[in-house]
Amino acid sequence: MIEWTPDLSTGVPKLDEQHKEIFQWLAELENATVEERTLFGVYVVTRLKHYMREHFAAEEALMRAADYPDLEQHIAQHAEFRARLEELQLKSIGEDISLDTVRFLNHWLCNHIARTDMAYVPYLKK
Ligand SMILES: [Fe+2]
Ligand SMILES: [Fe+2]
Repeated sequence: MIEWTPDLSTGVPKLDEQHKEIFQWLAELENATVEERTLFGVYVVTRLKHYMREHFAAEEALMRAADYPDLEQHIAQHAEFRARLEELQLKSIGEDISLDTVRFLNHWLCNHIARTDMAYVPYLKK
């Protein structure tokens, strides 16, 4: 099941809320895939893409304000994921998104939050 779990909490309420919303969109994407609702899939990918852009921008602004030393490397990971979503959005117009793709996005997200996002937490709390 795709959902936010407490072990992914950064302790920063605003960012946790955003992460939770991202998982909700991802769960919707899984529904669209399982139910083969192509048009709904296009809609969800589009919302997810816009929402991720907002979330990444918010995170990057906080890291910048905190003088986070690994900012560039973190931004590079965001950029790579944004590019994948862009590709996926284009692809979703012509064909259903595969469950493998949904699983990949879920895995990326959990991994990114658990490792890369967690690394900035002590700096934001300074
Ligand atoms: Fe994040
Ligand atoms: Fe991040």
